[in-house]
Amino acid sequence: MAKLVFRSSGKVIQDEKQIKEFLEKQGVLYEKWGVERLPEHLKTNYQLSPEEQKEIIDAYKEELETLKKEKGYVAEDIVVLSEQTPNLENLLQMFKKEHHHVDDEVRFVVDGSGIFPIKIGDEVVDVYVEAGDLIVVPAGARHWFELDENRKIKCIRVFKSPAGWEAIYDENETASMPLD
Ligand SMILES: [Fe+2]
Repeated sequence: MAKLVFRSSGKVIQDEKQIKEFLEKQGVLYEKWGVERLPEHLKTNYQLSPEEQKEIIDAYKEELETLKKEKGYVAEDIVVLSEQTPNLENLLQMFKKEHHHVDDEVRFVVDGSGIFPIKIGDEVVDVYVEAGDLIVVPAGARHWFELDENRKIKCIRVFKSPAGWEAIYDENETASMPLD
């Protein structure tokens, strides 16, 4: 189950509606799309063929098209992290450094789970996401990413341009993307 944990107080929010409402106020979109529609092999397999990746994306075509139209995203792909990922430890070390992006970070969790700590003023809120959850961390929001004890996550990633993924570690650096 998705949950929010406030690091300063230890307060936990587990109610889906409250999670959505709190995150919305911070400009973070959270939706539950569910994974009931996916056959088991697309969930458990972490070495997907291009055809299987397309099958997953096609299963969420309606939701993805709505989101893309609304937010101006143009493309999507599948990204996985698991023990089979080469250089997993190095990648995780990079992901867990505080950063922001010039574009939104959009992830729909197909399988597995993870934590997006997001900085809200002086507070850090751990957003626990799991299979079926969509999260949109807005451009400019300071955040990082960690795997939890499951040590794996498979996501649909939605984006405007791969250039927007670049992690900007310096809090004061705002723009770096060409406008064309
Ligand atoms: Fe990020």
